[in-house]
Amino acid sequence: MKYSKIAGTGSYLPERIVTNSELQTTIETSDEWIVSRTGIEARHIAAEGEKTTDLAEHAARAAMQSAGVCADDIDLIVVATTTPDKVFPSTACLLQARLGVKQGAAFDVQAVCTGFVYALSVADKFIASGQHRCALVVGAEIFSRLLDWNDRRTCVLFGDGAGAVVLKASETPGILSSHLHADGSQGHILQVDGGVSAGRLADNPYLQMDGSAVFRLATRVLHECATEALAHNGYGVADLDWLVPHQANMRIINSTTDKLGLARERVITTVAKHGNTSAASVPLALDTAVRDGRIQPGQLVLVEGVGGGMTWGSVLFRF
Ligand code: ACO
Repeated sequence: MKYSKIAGTGSYLPERIVTNSELQTTIETSDEWIVSRTGIEARHIAAEGEKTTDLAEHAARAAMQSAGVCADDIDLIVVATTTPDKVFPSTACLLQARLGVKQGAAFDVQAVCTGFVYALSVADKFIASGQHRCALVVGAEIFSRLLDWNDRRTCVLFGDGAGAVVLKASETPGILSSHLHADGSQGHILQVDGGVSAGRLADNPYLQMDGSAVFRLATRVLHECATEALAHNGYGVADLDWLVPHQANMRIINSTTDKLGLARERVITTVAKHGNTSAASVPLALDTAVRDGRIQPGQLVLVEGVGGGMTWGSVLFRF
């Protein structure tokens, strides 16, 4: 079997919802400013003590249930996260132990908001190699812990959550192609400068962003990698049933959609209620649209992301 196919999806959001009005009580901002600039109305925030692995486990179990697979079936776990519980073991290894998976490989990928798209592409290639048959691919983040909650330019944008898919070997596609890109020279426009390799947490532990530079790069590359994926497979925009873009903000999503010439009704958006959940945003949106019945078996779906690194990419598949 040379293809991989999504067999099930799942997601999880922490219980606590923080609305724009609540943020208004702690920083100088307004619901009007946040909604008009980003489309974000609320975000879920993890409870104290709740870890990325906790979120990942909920999403993974939901995806496994919807795919009808158990721990014995899984032989690959790839977790996309920027907010691992620990420096090591990886979140994927922690998750493997939680789920009782005893076989196969488990590792994290780090491409920030493009993380899930990278992870899906990696898992697809592992399965296409013939050496793995059933992968759990997870995007899980607690971005709220990377934010300076006094910095109104960044803290209003993000939320916490997790999403997952089970990817199985298949005789038919499935995943048609993936297209990954990076430009490390632009790393400074979106970063958490702090690191642990100094033997302690050194430098600024909080997310810093040049908002307009990120906006310009995001709208350019999301358009490029959407057209690249369609052209690679001989499809036009009219062939696409659904676009599931990274949920950073509505202005980026609308600009990409309009540039592509795609009807906005064909785009899955969850950013209003979730904020930007980084690597979790695409699988959360995918699971939402699968569970509410919009995405149907056999439909052509394009997922795409852009994030820190800078990184970007897309995966085109038949659901
Ligand atoms: N509430 C009220 N005012 C604010 C807020 C806020 N939350 N944040 C910034 N402002 C103020 C600024 O201080 C500034 O005031 P000043 O002129 O007195 O200095 C004013 O609003 C305008 O600020 P700008 O940064 O110019 O606002 P802009 O219209 O560019 O919108 C935004 C900022 C929303 C961040 C926009 O640049 C953007 O969408 N960038 C993309 C960033 C993004 O989505 N990042 C997510 C992570 S990256 C990713 O996932 C791809």
